[in-house]
Amino acid sequence: MSKIEREHTTTYGSRYFTKPVPKYEMPEEGMPARAAYQIIHDELNLDGNPSLNLASFVTTWMEPEADKLIMESIGKNYVDNDEYPQTEVIQNRVVNMLARLFNAPKEANSIGSGTIGSSESIMLGLLAHKWTWKKRREAEGKPTDKPNIVMGADVHTVWEKFALYFDVELKLIPLKKNVCKTTETEITKVMSSFSCISGLNEDIYTVSAEDIITQVDENTIAVGTVVGTTFTGQMDPIEEINTALLEIKETKGWDIPIHVDGASGGFILPFLYPDIKWDFRLEQVRSINVSGHKYGLVYPGVGWLIFKDRTDLPEELIFNINYLGGIMPNYSLNFSKGSSTIIAQYYNLIRLGMKGYKQIMENMQENAHYLASKLNGTKKFEVINKSITFPIVTAQLQNSEFSAFHLSEKLRQKGWIVPAYTLPANAEDVAVLRMVVKESFSKDMVEMLFNDIMDSIKKLEQSTEERIEYIDGKENPTLLY
Ligand SMILES: Cc1ncc(COP(=O)(O)O)c(C=O)c1O
Repeated sequence: MSKIEREHTTTYGSRYFTKPVPKYEMPEEGMPARAAYQIIHDELNLDGNPSLNLASFVTTWMEPEADKLIMESIGKNYVDNDEYPQTEVIQNRVVNMLARLFNAPKEANSIGSGTIGSSESIMLGLLAHKWTWKKRREAEGKPTDKPNIVMGADVHTVWEKFALYFDVELKLIPLKKNVCKTTETEITKVMSSFSCISGLNEDIYTVSAEDIITQVDENTIAVGTVVGTTFTGQMDPIEEINTALLEIKETKGWDIPIHVDGASGGFILPFLYPDIKWDFRLEQVRSINVSGHKYGLVYPGVGWLIFKDRTDLPEELIFNINYLGGIMPNYSLNFSKGSSTIIAQYYNLIRLGMKGYKQIMENMQENAHYLASKLNGTKKFEVINKSITFPIVTAQLQNSEFSAFHLSEKLRQKGWIVPAYTLPANAEDVAVLRMVVKESFSKDMVEMLFNDIMDSIKKLEQSTEERIEYIDGKENPTLLY
């Protein structure tokens, strides 16, 4: 590494500092706060602009009052609930609100907790199911050495991580294209997915209930399902999977729970499609995760895990810690965590209410539809998730000599972050661009993005050289979540 790469060189004449500042070792002497701020501030200018980042589901804007509450609580450690008891009270209120939002039965004693995000929630949810399965097997005198988990390849990578980290066999079902046409008998397979109900001729890249059923067995700790897949923004047919698992419970005696990954869809479905059954109304759905920092409309750092009933979380997994004063029950992977995002979540829930969330979701949905219709109208794209159940637009290029990766790259030059990637096994031949429409993405922004897309396409079409350079060259880059 050259000296230039290793050090911040002097800038602004000698206004802030006169000697280079090392980047990879602690400087012997500190520097004035303003100088440190300026160095870091300038360097961060190289980051993308969050408002133009259509790759990420994560909230980039909150109201000033929420910002104020966040700053007021930024120094509070959530885990110190003895010192900050009100944060825990607030967290429990949020858990209650979400359990109700997900239609937990009145007679159930639902519990849950705030986490750092859906990844932690999913790990904790599945771990609880692993324990429940193990305890049941032990009670029956059966072996417990071969737990497995069944899900489609449309799941987020955190599910694969869980299987690896917690030593559970991963039964990942490759995707196949299920075309949703009401005239075909095949269609009954995916009938409960929204796009089929709406009668759209949509390619569905999720699993079917049949796929799941052929894979489960007595060692299956849980079936994983997703509402709002990371790849295409579609949803698994959870109602059908539930029906199939109920049949298995009756005929074979295997009580296999469903965990629903509602990272992005969990805050959408209750407001936009309250009649779609994907949640605790379904008997086998025992746990749900949702990202507060996605469509929960809070800045990064908050997720939620809700169990339908207390009995779904084995007591053995709850730690009672006493070294912060008082006895505190704890079910989490990490220890310290800021309180501010939990408070910000509560702020949104009471500030917006059901009506406010619904309006925001409808607005995002409308803007996503608008973007999809503009792209479709060009005949240069085929939108995959035609029904736009969630405000995400996933589109494939049509009859194009350049790739989705190439267009993504070109848009980046204009400041837009629109990721391109291929779908998981067995749909790797489909390369898509994904645009996540957030609250802050207005119709004006859709217009600006669309114009830049068309301009980029024009330039790509004109530029033979660029085409040759990129056509085969680009591997599937890391998908930004
Ligand atoms: C479907 C799905 N599950 C899980 C995750 C992980 O969520 P988090 O980033 O909140 O940990 C994501 C992230 O985008 C996701 O889309």
